[in-house]
Amino acid sequence: MSGLLAILLPIAGLFFASSAAAQEADGERLFRQRCAACHNVKPGQNKMGPQLLGVIGRTAGSVEGANYSDAMQSSGITWDRQSLDTFLAAPSQMMRGTRMTVSVPNAAQRAAIIDYLESQSPD
Ligand code: HEC
Repeated sequence: MSGLLAILLPIAGLFFASSAAAQEADGERLFRQRCAACHNVKPGQNKMGPQLLGVIGRTAGSVEGANYSDAMQSSGITWDRQSLDTFLAAPSQMMRGTRMTVSVPNAAQRAAIIDYLESQSPD
């Protein structure tokens, strides 16, 4: 039995290590699939939506040259994990009149995307 455990434990370790890596990659992949059509994470590169580099800690509607709704510009929000989570779950429910209509109903996917955004900060 202990011989079997000696074989199984390292395999379980590998499994958990690789699923943690997959989890990290997930946020980036989700961002590419769900957000990147309209958002970049590079400074100064706005698409239909503002660039999202360093969005956590940023005042909503504050990117120079981005095409914002009045709702976004006057929202008074400073983005943090909680407000991003609420916004991404149902943008127009949180902010009536926003032009961002894409939602992410799945909480785990929102968390992964927010982790990814948190990892993308200007240095
Ligand atoms: C179809 C285009 C489109 C897609 C796809 C999209 N967005 Fe947006 N997003 C916008 C637009 C347009 C705005 C500006 C909204 C406004 O001003 O009301 C915006 C605004 C935002 C803001 C506020 C930024 C700021 O500077 O205040 C965040 C955060 C955001 N989007 C996150 C995301 C995330 C995360 C995804 C992927 C899950 C995503 N968006 C997908 C178009 C999009």
